[in-house]
Amino acid sequence: MSTTTAPPGWAIPGFLESRAGRLHIGGADSTELAREHDTPLFVFSEARIRSNVARLRAAAERAERPVRFFYASKANSNMAVLRTVREAGIDVEVNSGGELFKALRAGFRPDQIVFNGTSKTEAEVDEAVAAGIYAINADSLYEIELIEARARRLGKRARVALRLVPEIGTRSHLGLQTALLTSKFGITSAEVPAAFRRALRNPEHLHLTGIHIHVGSQTPDLDPFAAAFETMWEHLVRFHRETGHALEHINLGGGIPVNYLRDDSQAGDLPEAEREMLSAELEPADVLAAALRAARESARAAGAEHLLDAVTVLLEPGRSVIADAGLLLTTVRNIKRRPETGDVWLLTDAGFNLLLSQTTYKWYYHLVSASRADAPHDTPYKLAGPLCDSGDVYFDIERGGRLPDHRLLPADVRPGELLALLNAGAYTIAQMFPYNGRPLPAVVMVREGGRPELVRRRDTYEDLLAGDVW
Ligand SMILES: Cc1ncc(COP(=O)(O)O)c(C=O)c1O
Repeated sequence: MSTTTAPPGWAIPGFLESRAGRLHIGGADSTELAREHDTPLFVFSEARIRSNVARLRAAAERAERPVRFFYASKANSNMAVLRTVREAGIDVEVNSGGELFKALRAGFRPDQIVFNGTSKTEAEVDEAVAAGIYAINADSLYEIELIEARARRLGKRARVALRLVPEIGTRSHLGLQTALLTSKFGITSAEVPAAFRRALRNPEHLHLTGIHIHVGSQTPDLDPFAAAFETMWEHLVRFHRETGHALEHINLGGGIPVNYLRDDSQAGDLPEAEREMLSAELEPADVLAAALRAARESARAAGAEHLLDAVTVLLEPGRSVIADAGLLLTTVRNIKRRPETGDVWLLTDAGFNLLLSQTTYKWYYHLVSASRADAPHDTPYKLAGPLCDSGDVYFDIERGGRLPDHRLLPADVRPGELLALLNAGAYTIAQMFPYNGRPLPAVVMVREGGRPELVRRRDTYEDLLAGDVW
């Protein structure tokens, strides 16, 4: 009789799996990668990025309107990642002059770029206007004037969209919700008519092309997407009636969730709301269908279907492209036993300078042993990083219970054991910083076919001095 053990919940066949007990990503052995490049080490799979993009593009093919995806580069703007995303066939969203610079350098054409941001500088607006990008999303009445003034100065015509904040809540963390009136984003529904009028005043320098919203990141339900789209659609129709101006696009932002709890064996004690949010799965096709269904009904009722038939839908997915395509390898560097509390502490080389969300949002990254991926993960440990703060821990130090108090790993973990934090591709390397004089880590991309390629070298001590003038 043959016995086959089911693969662990975190496994994704062909991409993330245990082979001979060692964690493999895209066919590459994580223990060999760690040996060659040291840790902490981020590892990405090109195949997984491409398959995430393919899933989005397949959803677009089923939608009743043309759809364009603009990858939210804030999630991860490593140049090799940007290039892979571009080659996979989608466009890019940027949130600063720096991200615009990187997107252009990665080979995106200006008409493949949209630019968001609450605090754009004159220089950033100039760069976007001069490049001639697809849309600058104006975040306020003031910004419409700013963009117009800069376009006039440059003798250009800027394509703009208006970012709205219509008061739509989601079940994500407050810090990740962006369509609430209490948030810092966008133009309120009450301001919209004035904003539209203002944006039309100088057609020589401003071309009002669209309307934009982002309800928030990791949005677990379809309803907020549908409500957001419907709100924008209604503004579009009213605006057309008043002015005769037809908008070309409706941009529904990002927020398609990623299931961080594919393996939920350690999530039992998390609050239910947190578990539901972290384990959400929404098909991009369903997001598009729900949004367009609401708009189609309202268009039919208003006799405005011809307007809907002229609209391109934009989405700005970040997390859903890159989160589960990356992981962070870290080595246990120290161990201590505390008989007073009964805890065994494992001190790793990956702190909140690399995984900021784990501290700010108590974000859950599933942890496994990379060198003993097959062994039963049944022994509880307290986990912490190398930084000098008590808050540099892998549990909820504020005791809100939003992370497990202990992580389960194989028995008898010792210094030197290699661990992996999974689903760590989004909002990690984009946010890392060299706190405590810790050089930023290397990043490897495993190419299709399993060939690892260094796509960011590890910083040196000299790099720690690079910007200082002394
Ligand atoms: C305006 C905008 N678009 C898109 C995104 C990407 O969101 P996500 O990574 O959840 O898809 C964000 C991130 O919060 C955003 O602020």
